[in-house]
Amino acid sequence: MAADDFKDVIEQTFAKLERARARYVPRLSLREIGTITNVATGIAKVSGLPDAGFEELLAFPGGVFGIAFNVDETEIGVVLLGEHENLRAGDEVERTGRVMDVAVGDELLGRVVDPLGAALDGGRPPATRKRLPIERPAPSIIDRAPVTVPLQTGLKVIDALVPIGRGQRELILGDRQTGKSAIAIDAILNQRGQDVVCVYCAIGQRGSAVAKAVAVLRDGGAMDHTVVVVTEGNDAPGLAYIAPYAATSIAEHFMEAGRDVLIVYDDLTQHARAYRELSLLLRRPPGREAYPGDIFYIHSRLLERATHLRAERGGGSLTALPIIETQAQDISAYIPTNLISITDGQIYLSPSLFELGVLPAVDVGKSVSRVGGKAQRATYRAVTGDLKLAYAQFEELETFARFGARLDDDTRRIIEHGQRIRACLKQPESAPVPVLEQVAVLLALSEQLFDAVPLARMPAAERAVREAAADVASQVRARLEGDAGISAEDRRAVVALARDALVQFRASSNVELGSSATAGRSGG
Ligand SMILES: Nc1ncnc2c1ncn2[C@@H]1O[C@H](COP(=O)(O)OP(=O)(O)O)[C@@H](O)[C@H]1O
Ligand SMILES: [Mg+2]
Repeated sequence: MAADDFKDVIEQTFAKLERARARYVPRLSLREIGTITNVATGIAKVSGLPDAGFEELLAFPGGVFGIAFNVDETEIGVVLLGEHENLRAGDEVERTGRVMDVAVGDELLGRVVDPLGAALDGGRPPATRKRLPIERPAPSIIDRAPVTVPLQTGLKVIDALVPIGRGQRELILGDRQTGKSAIAIDAILNQRGQDVVCVYCAIGQRGSAVAKAVAVLRDGGAMDHTVVVVTEGNDAPGLAYIAPYAATSIAEHFMEAGRDVLIVYDDLTQHARAYRELSLLLRRPPGREAYPGDIFYIHSRLLERATHLRAERGGGSLTALPIIETQAQDISAYIPTNLISITDGQIYLSPSLFELGVLPAVDVGKSVSRVGGKAQRATYRAVTGDLKLAYAQFEELETFARFGARLDDDTRRIIEHGQRIRACLKQPESAPVPVLEQVAVLLALSEQLFDAVPLARMPAAERAVREAAADVASQVRARLEGDAGISAEDRRAVVALARDALVQFRASSNVELGSSATAGRSGG
């Protein structure tokens, strides 16, 4: 009896097992695991992942990711996107089967994030719903339209003499501490109310410098239309390397939705250095100035993504302002020459002008905008023609005058006029000037109205003319700010206002001078 029961139980159990075995379909495991063979600053060598592809994202322990860079049969050189300190040889590495991507969307506006999308502003993680790969093909030629709309920077010297168009790539270069970042930040500040989304990508800067930039943007009310993407100097070089690509994908999301976007890369010198460091660690052969051979390519494929899309593709635009720091004013070094040839023009900042207090320190003679002139407002084109010539003549003669040469009347007049042009183009930081005020000042200059004002009084005189612009009739204003150009009548109206303002200004300053002279006499 007991033996029969026992037999039943055994039979039933085996039958169950049999059924279970029949049901079981073997499936392949999707996980591919390799191991770290070697870790160094910023990179790791990994073996055991023979199928990993170029630029595939690999997952390391502790939530660190890396990008497969050198893909060999036996070993992969990986650029790490996080701290390498906690990784050890022998740790497991997993394939993800995807390339690096970044969260994009309107939710990022007003936020400060790192290139992986993590919040750096102490706020909650941005609630984005869409992701884009960080490396994306540039729009094809047939999807591009000519640059026709100005990107107003609010800086008189740039808007008048080196104009930038929406969809253009304009390089800002100069030695350290010449005001490069200031120009880019001012350009972002000026997009307030202009329906231009901005992305400021800080690469390898000190934390304090980034904090200052963000504070300026916040105080200027510019964060509502801006995304800040940051890698600091002490972050992994891999993060600095991917930062501009991630920032560009964030910007492209807006452009592809039909919006106008301005992106600032501050700066690509640090980006090139990070890439050189990674390449040397990965034992790629060094080329000129120890940069790897493809450094030109990594910057050109980045800047190719800036463009103006044609109407059928939504008509959006991406304007790029890459920044490069030169050493001892050497613009013919490897990286600056590369960037000059990739962009549509450059704004060169001169340390000697900076020392003289000519701020922004734009060297007009060495700066050029190869496409922005066509996008410049017709009003500007009508008033800046003579200005450029007069300023160039002045710069040439100025050097002579410094040697104390005796000057004939014509030369002296050119120099005095030039000095007033320069005075009018000066501008403090974070003080963008609207179109109408710029036009009033430029018209007053071209009519030589300032030439009677003593140089020391120029800042106040220029201010008086800008304030007078508030009295321009609204229809005239609409015409000047549109793209119809300036009629003789409108021109006369604005010039008359400027002239009156200067007459009043001189009368009041004579009173001031007079009263201070009296005060001086009575005191003595
Ligand atoms: N237009 C300006 N007027 C007054 N100060 C300026 C102006 N532009 C820049 N600066 C000052 O010059 C210094 C260097 O500017 P910054 O933009 O940081 O230079 P860079 O980015 O070239 O190193 C900063 O202290 C900044 O405040
Ligand atoms: Mg800077």
